[in-house]
Amino acid sequence: MNRDARKLVAQMTLEEKAGMCSGLDVWHLKGVERLDIPSIMVANGPNGLHKQAGSSEGLNMGNGIPSTCFPSAAALASSWNRELLHEVGVALGEVCQAEDVAVLLGPGTNIKRSPLGGRNFEYFSEDPYLSSELAASQIQGVQSQGVGASLKHFAVNNQEHRRMSYDASIDQRTLHEIYLTSFEGAVKKGQPWTVMTAYNKINGQYASQKEYLIGDVLRKEWGFDGVVVSDWGAVDQIADSIAAGLELEMPGNNGLSEKKIIQAVQNETLPVEVLDLAVERVVQLIFRHVDNKKEHVSFDQEDSHRLARKAAGESIVLLKNSNGVLPLEKSSKVAIIGAMAQNPKFQGSGSAIVVPTQVDIPLHEMKQLASNTANLSYAPGYILDTEEVDNRLMEEAKRAAEEADIAVIYAGIPDGFESELSDRRHLRLPYNQEQLIEAVASVHNKVVVVLMNGSALEMPWVSSVSAIVEAYFGGQAIGGALADILYGEVNPSGKLAETFPEKLEDNPSFLSFPGEGNRVVYKEGIFVGYRYYDKKKMTPLFPFGHGLSYTTFDYSNLKLSRSHMNDTETVEVQVTVTNTGTRSGKETVQVYVKDMVSTVIRPDKELREFAKVDLEPGEQTTVTFNLDKRAFAYYNVELKDWHVESGEFAVMVGCSSRDIFQQALLEVESTVSLRQTYTRNSLLGELMNNPAAAPMIQALTQNFQASMGIAEGDEKMSKIMQAALGAMPLRSLVSFSQGAFSDEMLEHLLSQLNAPATHS
Ligand code: BGC
Repeated sequence: MNRDARKLVAQMTLEEKAGMCSGLDVWHLKGVERLDIPSIMVANGPNGLHKQAGSSEGLNMGNGIPSTCFPSAAALASSWNRELLHEVGVALGEVCQAEDVAVLLGPGTNIKRSPLGGRNFEYFSEDPYLSSELAASQIQGVQSQGVGASLKHFAVNNQEHRRMSYDASIDQRTLHEIYLTSFEGAVKKGQPWTVMTAYNKINGQYASQKEYLIGDVLRKEWGFDGVVVSDWGAVDQIADSIAAGLELEMPGNNGLSEKKIIQAVQNETLPVEVLDLAVERVVQLIFRHVDNKKEHVSFDQEDSHRLARKAAGESIVLLKNSNGVLPLEKSSKVAIIGAMAQNPKFQGSGSAIVVPTQVDIPLHEMKQLASNTANLSYAPGYILDTEEVDNRLMEEAKRAAEEADIAVIYAGIPDGFESELSDRRHLRLPYNQEQLIEAVASVHNKVVVVLMNGSALEMPWVSSVSAIVEAYFGGQAIGGALADILYGEVNPSGKLAETFPEKLEDNPSFLSFPGEGNRVVYKEGIFVGYRYYDKKKMTPLFPFGHGLSYTTFDYSNLKLSRSHMNDTETVEVQVTVTNTGTRSGKETVQVYVKDMVSTVIRPDKELREFAKVDLEPGEQTTVTFNLDKRAFAYYNVELKDWHVESGEFAVMVGCSSRDIFQQALLEVESTVSLRQTYTRNSLLGELMNNPAAAPMIQALTQNFQASMGIAEGDEKMSKIMQAALGAMPLRSLVSFSQGAFSDEMLEHLLSQLNAPATHS
């Protein structure tokens, strides 16, 4: 078989080339039979394989072949465990191999700008570093099996409201620091075979047509060498998209786009060389699949289910555990309350739906672990899919609780409330579930609430209950994983990858989400998630990085390998973590960095590293991290690059963004000096900070003070004058000196200041 993509493209007709850039149907790419280029299949993920059963004509979301449904990204992110994400990726890759799927459409690494985002359950975090690290691990796992991943939705796709038409108006610093960083690590480390462009516009241009995004950032800066594919239906003008660097439009549209491509080439609005390069990349993708295809792959569904249970167990976050009510005694009398104990909500809705191979029922799984099933009672408490309170069910639940040692309520967001295509309207549980929690808590002082939801929740009932277990949409094995956690078979180790605000209105994007008409202004800038709550000194309901354990950990001995570095060097950070409790457990060590003094507005702290460790009681380990320039940098819009402002930085280590145990200081020096260009309107104050200009300005201002009649030694007046002068533009010297300092002298001064530095 001829593997030289360029040569194959050279043999294609214009019609064949155009065909390669637009799908065959919903899930297949076209091939060229006469050149032995086969058609390949892509299918949805990201937390399981959704391969449509039967024909590929329509987009039939509920109709897929059964495949293990792993925890959704929101859940997996709470594991903060790169190896686990890799392992899940491997399992996903295996099933794709077995099903002859070339590319799995995921993971999604968009930032959770607002907790209302309808697809937040499909995304990892509000923090770009955590998000991109986990995405990279999952991609590496999938691709280790010879199957491509499709990193999506590139970029600034953070809401479902008007998702195909909104225009995200976003400043360059925010774009790079928050929204692109979330993809950057995933592209550089994960090297996905494909990247999927988003539906929305960014600063006036559709993501699928934005050359800056695809050509400059993705390909040139990050070195992406795969195929850029559109989200399904995201292309407005196919020729413009190809010109901007996109290679493949999906799904196919029965030849319409082909015609447009052919026309654009014929009327010379699309250079044929650009089309050739696009086709070459699509052909390379096809052969990447062909070359990596394994025959007769099978995978063990039971093994896969066990992995789903392990993954869910590592992802569950113990949010609250007053008086150590959890873990449950196996001999306790437990009232299990809530319809979700029988009908667990284990995944969100939309294209991420997976048809599970089996589903663990929480109630049954608890019975498996309890020492005597007769000690467990069950009351549904509410009717799913309605918000109306059912008084009979509520009274029955209260009675069950009264007769038990402890009540465990399964609550969550029912089907359809968290879904692709629509954002949430509020952050509350359904009314009947909230009422049930309060009602049960009014008759029992030991109430545990287990939550199954895709994104942050408000909890007006938080102080009425003893313990809260956040399970997210934990996949098909969540029932078993929850039983493991509740009975202490598994020690909880999940940490929130997003902030839970006290109320929706506290969220930084609240006033500008989901925008006006098609325009969404990202007014909060870089202050997304904890970056905002920290800066505002607001106490959220549960902070970013929070999660409890049944054991305790101690942090000690934070050491930096140096106290000074420049921005081409790295610093090694070491900290010792000890399990000081009586159970083995896992802890996620989080490293944040703060710029102590900065002329640009920066967050109070930013996550720069993390690691999960597993320790037996009494065991200790030293964790080592390396921080480079990027850990200290912000995106400088003038430089169009990352920049470190020389000065002191704090390296902080803790177990959440609000529990910092150790801190050390470090001087970082920039090797890039920011050259400032001065104009007539530059402020005198700015020049005073420039060593070349300071003496001259000092002299001029002294003369000026004298001319204003301020006596030498009049400290008070001189101070006031200094402040006033500092805020004056240079041109004021001319008019206030009434020409003594002339316009010509000012021009001369500026030419001296702006002259390129001479090097000896
Ligand atoms: C979604 C993508 C998905 C694609 C194919 C789109 O509507 O945004 O995430 O992969 O459909 O189903």
